[in-house]
Amino acid sequence: MAGGLREAIVDWYGVAARDLPWRRVGAGAWGILVSEIMLQQTPVARVLPVWEEWMERWPTPAALAGEPPGEAVRHWGRLGYPRRALNLHACARVITDDHGGRVPSTYAELRELPGIGDYTAAAVASFAYGQSHAVLDTNVRRVLARAVRGEEFPSKTPTAAERTLAESLVPALDAPRWAVAVMELGALVCTARAPRCALCPVADQCAWRLAGRPAYDGPARRG
Ligand code: ADE
Repeated sequence: MAGGLREAIVDWYGVAARDLPWRRVGAGAWGILVSEIMLQQTPVARVLPVWEEWMERWPTPAALAGEPPGEAVRHWGRLGYPRRALNLHACARVITDDHGGRVPSTYAELRELPGIGDYTAAAVASFAYGQSHAVLDTNVRRVLARAVRGEEFPSKTPTAAERTLAESLVPALDAPRWAVAVMELGALVCTARAPRCALCPVADQCAWRLAGRPAYDGPARRG
């Protein structure tokens, strides 16, 4: 059952995914780290131009580390929560001073960087270094809860049971592609409000739908 679900979601991603610059091969670990911090609290459309500008201005951690912290805030644009700019600047300095200018590749080292929580450490280890991690952002949590469990998780942060479920679904082969595919399904189809079940590749096996849970009314949130 899990295999069929995974395969259907990964196949869907192959045809429906957005072409986002931080998902391209050349983005590099630094570009991926910057994107994940920017995307934490800001929609993709607003992140795109700021990410492009940052990558041009500061293509490496060392380039950003050489600037005063205020410059990072000044170029944060309208992303909101500007503490994230300071965290990224602090990350750049730690990476430059302690990791030879290269974004570290292990979950444990990433987790030690300023402002990097469980989600971001797992996302960077997975997307930048191809590692196998359960990547649990709000979109992924919602898809797994609905499709597999048939009920949304009540807690604000993942419980041990939820983590166990997510880890049990991580495939042996190409875990990062599974992670980004399920994230994209949550962003584009299995939205918090007004899920687009008619477009969903796993509608026929979705526990939420099979349990007759009504779709929410109202417009989908922009994501
Ligand atoms: N691709 C990889 N990580 C992403 C994220 N956090 N939001 C949107 N697309 C992504």
